[in-house]
Amino acid sequence: MKYSASCLLHLLLLAELFVQSSSRPTNSPSLCAMFRPMVHQVERLRENSKLHELETDELQTFDGVEKRLDSLPVIQHDAGYFSSLKVNKTLSQLYANIQSYRLHVDWLKTAKANFSLSSQSVEGAITHLRHLSNLLNTALQQMSEEVPQTPSPSFPDVSTAFDVLRFSIEISDQLQVFCDWSKRVLRQLQRQSRCPRH
Ligand SMILES: *[C@@H]1O[C@H](CO)[C@@H](O)[C@H](O)[C@H]1NC(C)=O
Ligand SMILES: *[C@@H]1O[C@H](CO)[C@@H](O)[C@H](O)[C@H]1NC(C)=O
Repeated sequence: MKYSASCLLHLLLLAELFVQSSSRPTNSPSLCAMFRPMVHQVERLRENSKLHELETDELQTFDGVEKRLDSLPVIQHDAGYFSSLKVNKTLSQLYANIQSYRLHVDWLKTAKANFSLSSQSVEGAITHLRHLSNLLNTALQQMSEEVPQTPSPSFPDVSTAFDVLRFSIEISDQLQVFCDWSKRVLRQLQRQSRCPRH
């Protein structure tokens, strides 16, 4: 008698556990497994986001130089945005933004080559943008989500080496902000999808 009562209790506890776990929002293990490499690539991209060889004091020369690349992605910073993220929509948007940065950085590389400037500083960014793009593409396909097409931006003319430098600085600055933002977005999606922390 004592034995079966405790057996029943175990069964009840198990049933309770089962109900609890199945009523929680489901997490997707395959998606969770992708967030971590994405965050890692964003961190590496952030480390490689300086697309020029200028030192801090040289950068001062460019203070107040008018910004001209309107085609760079515009990102939303308001708290409301972070509290209403949808995984599919957000990853699509992230993918589109990454594609846009890829086009800008490739363009910058050509511009540097045209003025015989070293393009070494852009290679790291190119690599990590490509990795991120592949990861996001795979995630979107797993969710049967359409992979967005990115129209080619219309770039301004580059007529002097000074132009190349100012565009390098402008893209670097925006890319840094974009990396910080992307990391925050990915962390929020991770939490929202109830992915295990480690
Ligand atoms: C995202 O997924 C939801 C639910 O599956 C769907 O209703 C919605 O249309 C999708 N959003 C986009 C932008 O594809
Ligand atoms: C690089 O030079 C080529 C040939 O002059 C030109 O067509 C192209 O637009 C230039 N690219 C950039 C990014 O300035």
